[in-house]
Amino acid sequence: MKILMVCLGNICRSPIAQGILESKIARLGLPWQVDSAGTSGWHDGEGPDLRAVELCKTRGLDISRQVSRKLTAKDLDHYDLILAMDSSNYQEITAICHTQTQRNKVRLILNYLYPNKNMAVPDPYYNGRFGEVYDLLDEAIDSLVDSLSAAKI
Ligand code: 4NP
Repeated sequence: MKILMVCLGNICRSPIAQGILESKIARLGLPWQVDSAGTSGWHDGEGPDLRAVELCKTRGLDISRQVSRKLTAKDLDHYDLILAMDSSNYQEITAICHTQTQRNKVRLILNYLYPNKNMAVPDPYYNGRFGEVYDLLDEAIDSLVDSLSAAKI
């Protein structure tokens, strides 16, 4: 199972989501791959926002070595599941999809926690609420892992 976390800048939400999923994958011994990307490319080559790095450190996660990159057309074929943080990310991703197979891979991550509610992971870049974002993603990713494990993927 190959999973791609996607947000706007790839320096706040999707790096945190990547770090959380990587740690759960390691703990559970699952043969899954995870990466993250941004729809904008505005922070290409940069590390995560230092506030995200610091918050993750307080929760025992080191995300400092991640590097921001822009989502590519190749990602749409390579990954099995492409998880958007909000509906704007979702629209940007589906806008570059060419096939229904690609579109079917794109989901809003919080629908794993609150099915069919289409809720957004609030962007902490502007309000600094990184702890809330971490807790929300941690819960959603627990549900994601349960759901994918049950499907025996
Ligand atoms: P992210 O947050 O999409 O969670 O990485 C943002 C990062 C940077 C910007 C906006 C949101 N920005 O405007 O540069």
